[in-house]
Amino acid sequence: MGPRFKVWVLVICIQICVIEAVTNPNDLAALNALKSSWKKLPPNWKGADPCNSSWVGVVCNKTRVTSLKLAGMGLVGTSLSDVTSLSELVKLDLSNNKGLEANLPPSIGNLKNLDTLMLVGCGLYGKIPESIGSLNNLIYIGLNKNSFTGVIPHTIGNLSKLSWLDLSDNKLTGNLPVSTEIESGLDLLLNARHFHLSKNQLSGNIQPQLFSSKMQLLHLVLDQNNFTGAIPNTIGLLLTLKTLRLDRNFLTGPVPERLSNLGNLTELHLSNNLLEGPFPNLTGMVSLNYLDMSNNSFDPTDVPTWFSDQQNLTTLLAERTQLQGRIPSSLFGLRRLESVVLSNNNLSGTLDLGSGYSSNLTLTLNNNSITGFQQEAQYNLNLTLDDNPICRGTGARDDYCTKIQFVIPLDFCFPAVCVSDNINKICQSVNSKLKPYTGTLNFLAVSFSNLQSPVYYESLSASIMSAFNRSNLPVNSVVFCTPSFDLSSHFQVRIQIFPSGQDSFNRTGVSDVSNTLTRQLFLLSPFFRPFTFIHDLYEFEGEKKSSNAGLIVGATMGSLLLVLVICAGIYIFFLKGKVKNAIKNSSPFASWNPDNRSGGVPQLQGAKWVSFEELKKCTNNFSDESIIGSGGYGKVYRGKLTSGELVAIKRAQHGSLQGDQEFKTEIELLSRIHHKNVVSLVGFCYEQGEQILIYEFISNGTLKRNLSGESGIRLDWVRRIKITLDSARGLAYMHELANPPIIHRDIKSTNILLDDKLNAKVADFGISKPVSDIAKGYITTQVKGTMGYMDPEYYMTNQLTEKSDVYSFGIVMLELLTARAPIQHNKHIAGEVKEALGNFQNILDVKLGLASSLGGLQKYVSLAMKCVKETGAERPTMSEVVREIENIMQLATPDPDPESYSTSSIHNSGADKDLYHPYDDDDFDRSRTSVPFETELR
Ligand SMILES: *[C@@H]1O[C@H](CO)[C@@H](O)[C@H](O)[C@H]1NC(C)=O
Ligand SMILES: *[C@@H]1O[C@H](CO)[C@@H](O)[C@H](O)[C@H]1NC(C)=O
Ligand SMILES: *[C@@H]1O[C@H](CO)[C@@H](O)[C@H](O)[C@H]1NC(C)=O
Ligand SMILES: *[C@@H]1O[C@H](CO)[C@@H](O)[C@H](O)[C@H]1NC(C)=O
Ligand SMILES: *[C@@H]1O[C@H](CO)[C@@H](O)[C@H](O)[C@H]1NC(C)=O
Ligand SMILES: *[C@@H]1O[C@H](CO)[C@@H](O)[C@H](O)[C@H]1NC(C)=O
Repeated sequence: MGPRFKVWVLVICIQICVIEAVTNPNDLAALNALKSSWKKLPPNWKGADPCNSSWVGVVCNKTRVTSLKLAGMGLVGTSLSDVTSLSELVKLDLSNNKGLEANLPPSIGNLKNLDTLMLVGCGLYGKIPESIGSLNNLIYIGLNKNSFTGVIPHTIGNLSKLSWLDLSDNKLTGNLPVSTEIESGLDLLLNARHFHLSKNQLSGNIQPQLFSSKMQLLHLVLDQNNFTGAIPNTIGLLLTLKTLRLDRNFLTGPVPERLSNLGNLTELHLSNNLLEGPFPNLTGMVSLNYLDMSNNSFDPTDVPTWFSDQQNLTTLLAERTQLQGRIPSSLFGLRRLESVVLSNNNLSGTLDLGSGYSSNLTLTLNNNSITGFQQEAQYNLNLTLDDNPICRGTGARDDYCTKIQFVIPLDFCFPAVCVSDNINKICQSVNSKLKPYTGTLNFLAVSFSNLQSPVYYESLSASIMSAFNRSNLPVNSVVFCTPSFDLSSHFQVRIQIFPSGQDSFNRTGVSDVSNTLTRQLFLLSPFFRPFTFIHDLYEFEGEKKSSNAGLIVGATMGSLLLVLVICAGIYIFFLKGKVKNAIKNSSPFASWNPDNRSGGVPQLQGAKWVSFEELKKCTNNFSDESIIGSGGYGKVYRGKLTSGELVAIKRAQHGSLQGDQEFKTEIELLSRIHHKNVVSLVGFCYEQGEQILIYEFISNGTLKRNLSGESGIRLDWVRRIKITLDSARGLAYMHELANPPIIHRDIKSTNILLDDKLNAKVADFGISKPVSDIAKGYITTQVKGTMGYMDPEYYMTNQLTEKSDVYSFGIVMLELLTARAPIQHNKHIAGEVKEALGNFQNILDVKLGLASSLGGLQKYVSLAMKCVKETGAERPTMSEVVREIENIMQLATPDPDPESYSTSSIHNSGADKDLYHPYDDDDFDRSRTSVPFETELR
C-alpha cells in the first residue's frame, strides 16, 4: 500500500463525516472535551455524530444535546465545566459517580433550559454557586450525599418552578435563607413539595417567615443540623405536610400548639433537642403513624391520653421525656401498634396490656418504676422491663428482665430466599447466572417500625417494579435485605435489582435504573417517604472485549458509523499493522497495559504468576474432589504446584469477578502481607477470564471445624489461648505494621486456619481495605461482613475502623470459650455470655472441663467482653489485646516446666503432644519477653 492510498481512505472518511454529521459543533466539542478529561465513559462514545449514533447516555433533540444521563457509570473526573457547555441541556443526571471529584462551576448558570439537576452521591465539593438561581426552569435539584460546603445560596428562592430540593448529607453551614427586600429566600418556593436538608451543619433559628399557608410542602426534613431557637409556629400552616423531621438539633422552648393542626402529618420526629414546657397535645394530628419525641426536657407529665386516640399509630418513641404515672392500657389496643419505647421515664404502677394488643408488639420500658405486669392475651410480645422494681430481687423473670440488647443486623430478606451468612448476601432468587445491580436505599422517614413485616416490602417492591415496568427497564425483580434503622433513625435497606432478558445490565440499564430510583417520579408505597439510592459500583460484563474490537460495536449502530469504523479500522490496519499483535498478546500481564487505564504491571512482593494450565493440571481440571471450600466468591481447591508446594487455590466464579484495576490492587495488597500468623499469597492467575488467588496450604483447616471436634483434634485451654494469641498477632500486624495498614473486615472462626503445629493464621482478605483508602474517605455505604461477627457500630454508621476487627475478634474469643455459633436461636453470643457471667460453667464448652481449672479464664472472658463493647472507642487495640493474652498465657501455664504441663494437663493426650507443645514453639518463648509481635519479611 502506498502512502497515497492511505490518504485517500482518510479523505473519504472525513468527507462522510462532514456531510452526514448533524450534531451541533458546540455540543460535539463539549462531549469530546469530556471524553478526553473523564475516565470510564461508555466505550461506544465514538465517532463524530453523537446525536445520530446513540452514544450511551446522550439524548438529542435534532442537533442539540438535551439530556445527559450517566448515572452509575463509575466516572472519574475533576471538572464539570465541559458539561456546562452543553447549553441546551434539559436533564442532567450524573448521580452515583463517586469518582467525580469536582466543584459545581458557576457556569452551571448557562444551562437555562435545565429542569432536572441530579448529582446525587458524587464526590462534589466547594460552594453551591449562586448562579444556580438563574436556572428558572429547574424543577428538581438533587445534590445530596456530596461534600458541599458554604451556605445555601439565597438565589435558590428564585426558582419558582422548583418542586424538589435535596441538599442533605453535605457539609453546608449558615442559616436557611429567608427573603428580604433585596434578596430572595426559600419562603418564595411556593411550588416546592420537598425540602430535604438533613445531615448538614446548618445553624441559627428556623425563621417563622420561612413558611406560609401558600406553600405546598409534603416533606420538611431538617434533622441532624445545628439549628437553635424555637420551632416556628408557622410550620402549623403547612397543612399539606406529611413528614416533619426536626430531630437532632438544638431547638429550645415549647412545641407550638399550632403544630397540632397538621392533620395529614404521618411522621413527626422531634427527638434529641432541648425542647421544654408541657408535653405537647397533638390530638389534632389525626393521621400520625410514627411519633418520636425522645430525649427532650418536657415538664413531668402523666402519659397523655391522646396517645390512645391515634388510631393509625404504629410507633411511639418517647424515651427520657419525664413521663410519669401508669401507661393507660387503652394505648395497647391501637390496632396497628408495632413499637412503644418509653425507657428512662418515671412510669409506675402495674403494666397492664389489656386484652387486645397486636401481635409482635415491641415494648421497651427500661429504667422506670414499674412494679407489676399483667398480660391477658398471649400473643407474641417483645417486652423489656430491665431496671424497673419488678426486675429487682427474686421475682425477676428471664423473659422480660434481660440485661442488655446487642444490636444484631437483621438477617432478613424479602422475598426470603437467601442462604449465605453474608451481610451483602446476593439472593439468587431467579437464576444464579443473573448479576444484580445493588445498592442501599436510605429513607427520609417511614411509617412503621416492625422491620420483619412482609407487607411493607411487598408494597415497596410493587411500587418500584411498576416504576421500572412503566419505563420499560429490563428488570426482572427486586430483593430487599438486612433492613435497619441507622443511628439517626433513618430506615435503610439493601436492594438487589435483577436484570431480565439478559444476564447482566448494560450501561443504559444501570443508568436508567439509578435515574428512576433517584428521580422518584412514581407513586411510592404509602409506608415509605422518599429515599436516597446509593449504589455499589457495577462491573459491566464483556466490555473489555468489545472496546478492543470496535467492529462489533460499530455493526450494531447504523450504517454511517459502520462505514466510519470500517474506514478507521482499515486506516489503522494499513498505517500501523499492529492490530493483530495487540489482540494476540497473551502474556500474563497483557491486560495491564496503559490503554486499559489500569496503570502498569502490578507491583508484587513475593507472589508469582502461575499459568492457568498449571492450575488446571494440579487440581485435576478443577475437579470436585479437589474442592476444600466454597463461598459467594467461588470455590477453593487444593493442589500441588510443579514446584512441589501445596497450595489452596481460590477461583472467583463468574459474577464475582472484579475489574482488572481492583484485582490488581488486591494482589498488590496481599503480596505485601508477610507475617507467620497471616496466610500468605503464593501467586495468582489472571488469564482467560479467570481471577485466581493462590495461598499457602494450611493443613488443619478452619478454627470452626476444629472447635466443633469434626477434625478429631482436641483443643485444650492452653491451645485455645495460643490460637487467640496467634491470630491476635496476625491481626495486630495487619493493623499496625503492614504497609499500608489493613482492616480485615471479615474476622470469623472460618477465616482463622490452623497449620500442622496448630499455629493459627488469619486468612481471606477478600473484602479487606487498606486504611489509607479509608482515611481518604473511601467509604461506601456497602457494609460488608458476616452476620454475628459484624461490629454493630460499623453497621449503624458505615464508619469503618480497626476497632471493627477488634469486635469480630472478641466474638471469635467467645466462640473459643463456648464452641457456639455467634448467633444461635436468634440470640447473640455476646449477650449470652454476659448473662451467664454469674454461672459461667453453663455456657463453657464442655470439652474444656471445669471453669475453676482454667487459669486466666476470668481475664480471658473480660478481655473478650471488652472487645465486643458497643462503641469502638471502648474497645482495646489489637496490640493491647496481644499484650493481655500474653499475660493470660502465663496464668494458664503457671509452671514453667514444660514436662509438668504435658503430664498435669487433663486434656493433653499423648497423641496431641506430637502435634503441639507450647514450649516447642520458639514463638511462645519470645512472647514472654513482651515483644508484642514481629514481622517477617520474606
Ligand atoms: C425539541 O425542540 C423544539 C424546539 O426547541 C421543541 O419545541 C420540542 O418540544 C423539542 N422536542 C422534544 C421531544 O423535546
Ligand atoms: C454543629 O454541632 C456540632 C456538635 O455540637 C459541632 O461539632 C459543630 O462544630 C457544629 N457546627 C457548626 C457549623 O456550628
Ligand atoms: C389531606 O389528605 C387528604 C387525603 O390524602 C387530601 O384529600 C387532603 O387534601 C389533604 N389535606 C390537605 C390540607 O392537604
Ligand atoms: C388536647 O387538645 C384537644 C383539642 O385539640 C382538647 O380537646 C383536649 O382537651 C386537649 N387535651 C388536654 C389534656 O389538654
Ligand atoms: C388510617 O389508615 C388507613 C389505612 O391506611 C387510612 O385509610 C385512614 O385514612 C387513616 N386514618 C387517618 C385518620 O388518617
Ligand atoms: C409475628 O412474627 C412472626 C415471626 O416473626 C411472623 O411469622 C408473624 O407473621 C408475625 N405476625 C404479625 C401479625 O406480624
